[in-house]
Amino acid sequence: MLSLQSLGDHYHALVIGSSGALGQAFCDALRADPHCALVTELSRATTPHLDLENPSSIAEAAHELAGNAPYQLIVHAAGLLHRQGIQPEKSLAALEAEVLQAVFQVNTLGPALILRDFLPLLDSRGAMALLSAKVGSIGDNRLGGWYAYRASKAALNMLIKTAAIELARQRPQARLLSLHPGTVISSLSQPFRGAAAARPAEQAARELLGVIDRSVPADSGGFFSYNGERIEW
Ligand SMILES: NC(=O)c1ccc[n+]([C@@H]2O[C@H](COP(=O)([O-])OP(=O)(O)OC[C@H]3O[C@@H](n4cnc5c(N)ncnc54)[C@H](OP(=O)(O)O)[C@@H]3O)[C@@H](O)[C@H]2O)c1
Repeated sequence: MLSLQSLGDHYHALVIGSSGALGQAFCDALRADPHCALVTELSRATTPHLDLENPSSIAEAAHELAGNAPYQLIVHAAGLLHRQGIQPEKSLAALEAEVLQAVFQVNTLGPALILRDFLPLLDSRGAMALLSAKVGSIGDNRLGGWYAYRASKAALNMLIKTAAIELARQRPQARLLSLHPGTVISSLSQPFRGAAAARPAEQAARELLGVIDRSVPADSGGFFSYNGERIEW
């Protein structure tokens, strides 16, 4: 059974994007942790609700959830690779302005506002992690394609790194991490090659919580895989 050690005895956890495969798996794992006193879920389906394409809903949700702050753990598990009318692009010729805007809104601009509005609710010794993706690594990009998703996650990583520098000045014991979950069974990965090798979300969530738990303030701003290894930018 999961038992996180670095967040204190009665920690409060907040999972943003709790309706997704990884989001639900985080909530389930945290509820089973005897050290966890409270798990708050936030998604388009909760009250308050949070829609990454509606900036005012982000600020309003943070305002409403401030009552249970500080949170010792905040996990952002929302993201967009495909939906009706949106498919990852195989070539430059496939780029569409509306698709680029929507993917950046969900994967980058919304999370920027999440950082603005939720980082102030993080405990001074707490940890906040946002799910990025290894395909957002510029150095590791060997295959090309998936323009909007790759670029939106690369930009997310820059936002996390930049926010971590600011956080370190104000709360030097806090941690802010960018995490790659590996390929995980979910509706996001299901249509794509590689889905065959995908791991259950429960396993990925446990591994990622372990990475968060073992992280130290010096790791803040870093980009880590589910196995704890650093991923190049
Ligand atoms: N699965 C993988 O193999 C894999 C690999 C690398 C990285 N990741 C990253 O891991 C994260 C979780 O992915 P997953 O596999 O759990 O996918 P998932 O099951 O499809 O979940 C995606 C989540 O994002 C939320 N979301 C999408 N658009 C939103 C919006 N406009 N406002 C608020 N929430 C929105 C969904 O909410 P609704 O339920 O309301 O749609 C859902 O909670 C993502 O950031 C993804 O990029 C996943």
